[in-house]
Amino acid sequence: MKRRVGILTAGGDCPGLNATIRGVAKALYQRFDDDVEIIGILNGYQGLIDGDWRVMKPREFSGILTVGGTILGTKRTPFKLMRVVGDDQVDKVEAMKKNYKEMKLDCLLCLGGNGTHKTANLLAQEGLNTIGLPKTIDNDIYGTDVTFGFHTAVDIATEVIDRIHTTAGSHSRCMVVEVMGNKAGWLTLYSGIAGGADIILIPEMPYTIDNVCAAVEKRASEGKAFSIVAVAEGVFDAEEARMKKKERAAKRAEAGETTATNRIAHQIEKMTGCETRVCVPGHMQRGGSPSAYDRVLATRFGSYAAKLVAHEHYGVTVAMVNGHVTENPLEEIAGKSRLVPEGHGMLEVARSMGVCLG
Ligand code: F6P
Repeated sequence: MKRRVGILTAGGDCPGLNATIRGVAKALYQRFDDDVEIIGILNGYQGLIDGDWRVMKPREFSGILTVGGTILGTKRTPFKLMRVVGDDQVDKVEAMKKNYKEMKLDCLLCLGGNGTHKTANLLAQEGLNTIGLPKTIDNDIYGTDVTFGFHTAVDIATEVIDRIHTTAGSHSRCMVVEVMGNKAGWLTLYSGIAGGADIILIPEMPYTIDNVCAAVEKRASEGKAFSIVAVAEGVFDAEEARMKKKERAAKRAEAGETTATNRIAHQIEKMTGCETRVCVPGHMQRGGSPSAYDRVLATRFGSYAAKLVAHEHYGVTVAMVNGHVTENPLEEIAGKSRLVPEGHGMLEVARSMGVCLG
């Protein structure tokens, strides 16, 4: 009997998804030759709910190592809605179980971030054989030192900061670069250090605008007429940090603030007199070809996932721990996230460079 392995990519895309799909597929074909069939489920869990899938041909996995995005398509199907029956009257969990059975899957590989892992765990609890693979530019999946996509995004954000540096210098401006990362500051911290940002603001460390402006003014007093601020999209100031999410949103709306980044830029210009501009690279950080680092990581993770399939070791997700690829039980990591902890070595490095952390 042929093994039937389902594979889907869910949540936001990132570079390295195709490299991981290829890694899994090649390793599976190596192990099982003709005795394996890979079933591609389209557009994440939505495809599993809708029964949107096809049997993949081995040649579909060739030539995709370097390709950005995901050949399977992806969609955000929020975990919190998985058990909610909507207007379409579809019981999503039951539909996923039914389609899994119809596809006659031995197991299902779920490539994605935190939400994807929560659903993979839910499906495992419902009796399906699931295996996770940790993807996200945010690098915030619990239990793994790194996720694929992160380092490519660091490279992209770093290039943005590099390019912003030269224009900031020419115009003697303060440039505020907004970096993605949702609630985690890893991407901003790494790209900020790699790009030599003068001020790095991350969600884990609420800032005060006085400290930010003091850093800009200190540089000016030392004859450095420009400053680079790397701001994580999810930052808030010390006052907002004491508020609940809804309260914070209401305060921002009342003040007519679109984003924290825009507010920071406005305040810097007003308080220091330094002409200030905002740069938002946005989804560019998720696009294009994966870096060599991510191609290697994706291939290592894909190869390991194939080994898990061979050993019928399910209900786990692939992880990197201290340089070794291993696995974590889904139930242990689902619902948790990995943020920049206080006292992390990278924060110490930034401080030792004289970087203002807000
Ligand atoms: O989780 C990856 C991520 O790019 C976050 O950094 C960002 O907050 C979010 O996705 C953006 O989501 P969307 O693609 O739905 O706009």
